[in-house]
Amino acid sequence: MPLTDFRTLGRSGLVVSPLALGTMTFGPGPFGADERTSRAIFDAYRDGGGNFVDTADIYSGGVSEELVGKFIRETRSRDEIVLATKFGFNASSSPLTAPRGRGGNPHAGGAGAKNIHRALEQSLKRLGTDYIDLYWMHVWDGVTPVEEIVQTLGNLVTAGKIRYFGFSDMPAWLAMKAATIAAERRVPGPIAMQLEYSLVARDVESEHLPVAREAGMGVLPWSPLAGGFLSGKYNRADTGGSGRLSGPNPFGNSKFTDQNWAILEVLREVAAELDRSMAETALAWVMARPGVASTLIGASKVAQLQSNIAATEIRFSQSQTQRLNEASAPLPTFSSSLTMRGLRSMLFGGHEVAGWNE
Ligand SMILES: NC(=O)c1ccc[n+]([C@@H]2O[C@H](COP(=O)([O-])OP(=O)(O)OC[C@H]3O[C@@H](n4cnc5c(N)ncnc54)[C@H](OP(=O)(O)O)[C@@H]3O)[C@@H](O)[C@H]2O)c1
Repeated sequence: MPLTDFRTLGRSGLVVSPLALGTMTFGPGPFGADERTSRAIFDAYRDGGGNFVDTADIYSGGVSEELVGKFIRETRSRDEIVLATKFGFNASSSPLTAPRGRGGNPHAGGAGAKNIHRALEQSLKRLGTDYIDLYWMHVWDGVTPVEEIVQTLGNLVTAGKIRYFGFSDMPAWLAMKAATIAAERRVPGPIAMQLEYSLVARDVESEHLPVAREAGMGVLPWSPLAGGFLSGKYNRADTGGSGRLSGPNPFGNSKFTDQNWAILEVLREVAAELDRSMAETALAWVMARPGVASTLIGASKVAQLQSNIAATEIRFSQSQTQRLNEASAPLPTFSSSLTMRGLRSMLFGGHEVAGWNE
């Protein structure tokens, strides 16, 4: 089965599939999937051998967690599944949740201990379980001290309410600091990062991926198809249709840039050579990137999920990888310039010395 090429997540004993099922689409909403379709997507993922399911407290205002919990109960698969959910966005007034009347409670969001405990209790209830396998900080709030985040999440591991924790959407320095504090104090630290990463979003390569490698954190790319853009179903002349990025949408039209259209053309060529869909090809590229442990796939239809699972079969030639890498290469940053070719040789008397983890 394509999804049983199991691996451990970061420097941990958590065993996961190469593709994780993202359930942001589960539940009501213009880009969502109703209960019947969500169940079929869940079943198709499980039929492929997948064991890693990702949700969040705010997805569809909590309905995604409720559906995931229900499907796990119905299939009696709790022991087999690595269940991941997230805290951080405000439960009372998030732009991603339906308005619920009274909003604006500052204790219903962020990474402070008070909100983490509140959010976890609510997620456990909606999921109908008494522990989370991987608890994500969805987004850094910019104010809570790293020490408090590590202590709160580490204590929850010790208490058995969560098995592991990870960080999503945070600066790289924060993850490194958390990992260092945890290592020095000999307490549980973050084992994974969840980051936007695709052929059209590679800026995490300059700081985040080196931190993940140094700190032993597995990387989970989100939006590996850039919200559907890399499936090739949009074109310059017509960005309409019925997909998530069609017309006015909460994700904006930031993907429709000249540079991204150019990347899409190279992807189209490589996909044609492989006789594969562009979506599968784009997913296979992310999955093959160094440091990527498991890639989050999203789908609004079962057929999309089934096609995306087939990405696990793709093997690129050297030339195909090179063309995709070159077409999508991010602009150099100050950090990436420090690892440019030739600099090391200059520092080591003409020798390209290899590092221990390269
Ligand atoms: N940590 C974070 O901040 C964060 C942020 C975003 C997502 N995530 C996680 O990552 C998961 C995946 O993210 P994502 O949904 O943005 O991933 P994505 O793969 O970039 O986009 C998925 C969307 O693309 C379209 N699509 C998927 N497969 C397709 C195919 N084969 N052909 C044509 N269209 C296809 C579908 O939308 P349409 O059919 O509507 O076009 C689908 O809902 C989420 O479910 C969530 O778990 C995390």
